[in-house]
Amino acid sequence: MPGFDFFSGQGLVRPDVTAADAESMASSLFGITGTARELGSQQDRNFLITATGAATGAATGDSAGDSAGDSAGGATQRYVLKVDNPAFSAAELAAQDAVMVFLTEHGMRVPQPVRGLNGLSRQHWHATDAALLPVRLLTFLEGPSLEARGYLAPPVVRALGRLSGTTSLHLRDFAADGLDRTLQWDLRNAKTVIDLLMRWVPAEETRDQLRAIADSAAARLAAVASVLRLQTIHGDITDDNVICRVLPNGHHVPEGVIDFGDLATGWLVAELAVTAASVLHHMPDNPLAALEAIVAFDEVVPLTEAEITALWPLIVLRGAVLVASGEQQVQIDADNDYARHRMDAEWQVFAAASAIGWEEADAAIRQALGRRPHTGAEHTTVPEHTTVPEQTTVPMIPALADGDYEMLDFTVTSPALTDGLWQTTDAEWRLAQAALARRSAAVAPYGQFRLTRTPPHSRREPDTFALFTEVFLPAGSVIVAPAAASVTEIGGDTLVLTLAGFGLRIGGIVSNLVPGAAIAAGEPVGVASPVARVTVQELARPGLPVPHFTQPSRAAAWATLAPDPARLLGLAPQASVVDPAIELARRGAMMAAAQEKYYERPPQIERGWQELLIDTHGRSYVDMVNNVAVIGHSHPRFTRAVSDQLALLNTNSRFLYSALADLCEHIVATSPDPILDTVLLVNSGSEAVDLALRLARIHTGRSNVVALREGYHGWTSASDAVSTSAYDNPFSLASRPDWVHIADVPNSYRGTHRGAGAAGEYAADLARLLADPDGPGADLAAFICEPVLGNAGGVVPPAGYLARVYEQVRARGGLCIADEVQVGYGRLGSHFWGVQQQGVVPDILTVAKAMGNGYPLGAVLTRRDIAESLAREGNFFSSAGGSPVSCVAGLAVLDVIRDESLQQNADAVGRHLAGRLAELAERHPLIGMVHGLGLYMGVELVRDRDTLEPAVSETAAICERMLELGVIVQPTSERQNVLKIKPPLCLSRESADFFVDRLDEVLQGGW
Ligand SMILES: Cc1ncc(COP(=O)(O)O)c(C=O)c1O
Repeated sequence: MPGFDFFSGQGLVRPDVTAADAESMASSLFGITGTARELGSQQDRNFLITATGAATGAATGDSAGDSAGDSAGGATQRYVLKVDNPAFSAAELAAQDAVMVFLTEHGMRVPQPVRGLNGLSRQHWHATDAALLPVRLLTFLEGPSLEARGYLAPPVVRALGRLSGTTSLHLRDFAADGLDRTLQWDLRNAKTVIDLLMRWVPAEETRDQLRAIADSAAARLAAVASVLRLQTIHGDITDDNVICRVLPNGHHVPEGVIDFGDLATGWLVAELAVTAASVLHHMPDNPLAALEAIVAFDEVVPLTEAEITALWPLIVLRGAVLVASGEQQVQIDADNDYARHRMDAEWQVFAAASAIGWEEADAAIRQALGRRPHTGAEHTTVPEHTTVPEQTTVPMIPALADGDYEMLDFTVTSPALTDGLWQTTDAEWRLAQAALARRSAAVAPYGQFRLTRTPPHSRREPDTFALFTEVFLPAGSVIVAPAAASVTEIGGDTLVLTLAGFGLRIGGIVSNLVPGAAIAAGEPVGVASPVARVTVQELARPGLPVPHFTQPSRAAAWATLAPDPARLLGLAPQASVVDPAIELARRGAMMAAAQEKYYERPPQIERGWQELLIDTHGRSYVDMVNNVAVIGHSHPRFTRAVSDQLALLNTNSRFLYSALADLCEHIVATSPDPILDTVLLVNSGSEAVDLALRLARIHTGRSNVVALREGYHGWTSASDAVSTSAYDNPFSLASRPDWVHIADVPNSYRGTHRGAGAAGEYAADLARLLADPDGPGADLAAFICEPVLGNAGGVVPPAGYLARVYEQVRARGGLCIADEVQVGYGRLGSHFWGVQQQGVVPDILTVAKAMGNGYPLGAVLTRRDIAESLAREGNFFSSAGGSPVSCVAGLAVLDVIRDESLQQNADAVGRHLAGRLAELAERHPLIGMVHGLGLYMGVELVRDRDTLEPAVSETAAICERMLELGVIVQPTSERQNVLKIKPPLCLSRESADFFVDRLDEVLQGGW
């Protein structure tokens, strides 16, 4: 017997029932005493019942049982009391009860119907107006839905799609009476529903838009509707109707399905369309994020060709039904706050879905599913795209025929775009003009990811992929038709031709052809306009609206609609295959697993400029982690100095050349104290620390060294021995050699001692260690630490700590080593060296990283008498340490820091950043502390500001999301719960703001 028919009546108003009514229904019909709170519903009434008393009577669950785990350990039992709209028949409600039992038997997590006192799960309630209302009680699935989440990470969207697919897979075998319904949500009825409810949409203009898009969707759907598979579907597996498990990183993974009120026979693919549409309002500016759900669904229930064709139109129609129905509901049921609050989201779904053109959506789905591009042969009237056999085409630009042209390189790796030239607005033009001075034409090929289209701060992927070939050539050069064609369109300097099975858009020409004109192969269609930039774009279908540039993630789909026109120009295809996954695999094949890498799916970074890193797709990222590139990436002055020196001489420091003394003099000039007047040059921080330890041990004739917990000083045997970070080596504390003694880390935020007296307390602890019979004792050679604890996340030791410690160490005859590899060289803003910030002078200071701006260079700065001790163990020599090129690199860095006032910039931008981060911390409880100063900071993320439980997996997930938004930032510290902030010192205020704005967005909108 047919069930409910939406078209037979008007809109449904929810039954008039209060929370108090619900409480009495729960107790009188089901024997549950409890409090009721209304949950939202479009057309029914749902109440959350929290049982306050033990269940009496039969309310102990259906034969299928309460869903296990929902009320662990006798915790408060909760239920959903459903007062169904009386418009629905008993058979329809019985089918809904039965399907919940059925899906549970198939291992799915869904609510269960609860029997009433009379043993039946369907009860009735006499409303005041004498109507008899159907009442059911269901177990409540504990856990959050996705509805209140902002951004949904790809694994979450995939899990949602998989859940939808799994439900469909099982429902294929579910049959019952009461499924033959005519629902407003059944997408088979979408067009009729939209036509019927359109009048409720207030603005006429919006109505027209909605109608036009819905009509277009319905027309595309009509071509395949008759072959779409029908089966039982849930019909409403949305962000709202799934229950999630919350992972430690904060991701909500959908696992359970609720609300079977729309259960009916319907199109299988409609199940997916509804699910996919519900993703859209979470990422309204990235509609293709729904592809993750589509792929996951298809993995469980492979879609047919017709279903793929129908999918995006159905998503759009779902959006249109939601807005039309929502507008009606808020007007006929004025008190329905739930419906009103949902309106924004409904409009967002519709807007996002209709923002993607049909062809692109179809191509993108096929591409994501690994299906071949649409040929149109199966079900639609879209003409098949046939490429013209090569022999029948005439090269379109005769000027290219003799080969006197140059290929232009606008890509990220283009050697012609160095020194920031890529950022100038006329970069393409300048490169083309230079080429034209040598040749008679220049070609910017199809398929390049153009660096010239890369914006500096890009929250979304920029449109960098060229879907056309551009030819620069003298004005007036003739362009001919590659094959017989007719003129479809002409406007401005653009001509659109229709050829056999495909279209051609030619821009930048002067043409006197008229629409409809027929042209033979080789016949002129126009001449290059005075601007002389001719663009040639092939269209898989004449008239297809194809952009000139698209985003990298959309390039593959668009490429099926606008293929490389190279052959029409007599050129070899140039499309670049740029897939970071290939590079990752190559790297994995050659490198050991222990060799660290950033990110799960890293972008392939091939260019740096100032504080930006740029990947092969032309996406730029603000680089918040590269303290090595202290003066900025690819600094022209640095590049020139190093390459000029390479062209002159590079040898070892046993030869005499001026750069060595120049660099040493410059380093000594920065010395925190005149007593540190001697320099030894090496290649890295590890070597500098290694040498510093060796100097201390030779000079004192002793061997023991005290290092701090949670420190990292390098990888060589000696520098590794004093590295205690459990992150870098989980066994570090247990595996130190016996000459290493470990003191507590002076972290007054989360360490042993906090608050005002922390410096004294940590120093007292160290005094105890020094006095301990098992401690370093009389054999103490040195104490080593970073003056600001870089590895701990930029933690500044409590004021006075280092002064007290140095005093104690020296009193026992030890030397004090300051490891400035991370925090020195102007980074702290207020001081050039960390020890200056702490008000101490070390005996030995190590520096590297920033010193060479990425060129391997390190140094030890110490007292002459200490350096002289080295002679006791023979000569010292490091082949590349202090080479002419190293020295020139080091000099250029110091010159740029001085001439571009980078220390001052670190101070100013650092203060600005600190202020903005402090403000962020006020609004986001996840930020426990902002450590550091200048441009060495750490944003420590905690789950609880009292317990300081580290938000470890959240930090990792936030970094992944920040990458999507154009920022490179990484976790650091022992616990990996600190965002490390140590960008190039040229970081601009705009870049700092971009970073904070994105972090704010992620903390607010989710990750
Ligand atoms: C404080 C500190 N010292 C020394 C080193 C070792 O430097 P390198 O990697 O140049 O060998 C590091 C490296 O991260 C460091 O952070």
